[in-house]
Amino acid sequence: MPASTSVKDYIRTIVDFPKEGIMFRDVTTLFADPRGFRMAIDQLLHPYAGVRFDKVVGLEARGFILGGAVAHQLSAGFVPIRKKGKLPGAVISEDYQLEYGEAVVEIHDDAIQPGEKILVVDDLLATGGTAEAGIKLIERLGGEIIGCAFVIDLPDLGGRAKLEALGMDVHALCA
Ligand code: PRP
Ligand code: ADE
Repeated sequence: MPASTSVKDYIRTIVDFPKEGIMFRDVTTLFADPRGFRMAIDQLLHPYAGVRFDKVVGLEARGFILGGAVAHQLSAGFVPIRKKGKLPGAVISEDYQLEYGEAVVEIHDDAIQPGEKILVVDDLLATGGTAEAGIKLIERLGGEIIGCAFVIDLPDLGGRAKLEALGMDVHALCA
C-alpha cells in the first residue's frame, strides 16, 4: 500500500469475524508492511523514552509479535502470558471474559521477580478483560507495571476506563 503517516491506515477491519456483530481489527496488514510495523513499534515506545524496564510482557497472540520487537528496542527481557495449557513450567492462572467468549490466561510463576519494572504490550484493548487478567498475574508475582501499551483502543468497550481504574497508565496509538 502507499506510504502513510498513520498506523491506523495499515489496519483492516473484517466484519463478522470470529462471529456475527464483531468488527475484527486485523493487524496482520500492519505487521506485514515494513513502514507500518516500524512505525507501530516506534510509536509504542514513544512515551517511555529514558525509562528503564526489566521486562516486556506480551499477551497472546499478537502481543508476542509487538512485545518481542519492543523488548528488543528496550534491551529488556520478554515474558509471554499465554492461554491455558500452553506454558510448560509451573504457572499461575486468571479467568477473564472476552468481547466474544471467556478464557484463562497463565504466566510462569518464576517469570517475574518482585520489584521488576514491567511494560505490558498487546495489539488491542477492547473490554480490557485480557489485559486486566494479565495485570493481576504480573502483580501477583510482585511486578511493578509502569505502562500498558496497545496499538488499538476501542474506547466504547470500556477497556481503558477499566485499566485506568486499576491505576494503570494506558498508551494507545489509535481508536
Ligand atoms: C484479542 C486481542 C487482545 C484481546 C482484547 O485477543 O489481541 O488480546 O482480544 O480483548 P479484551 O480487551 O476484550 O480482553 P484474542 O482473545 O482474540 O486472542 P488471540 O490474539 O490469541 O487470537
Ligand atoms: N479482540 C477483542 N475484540 C477485538 C476486535 N474487535 N478486533 C480484534 N481483536 C479483538
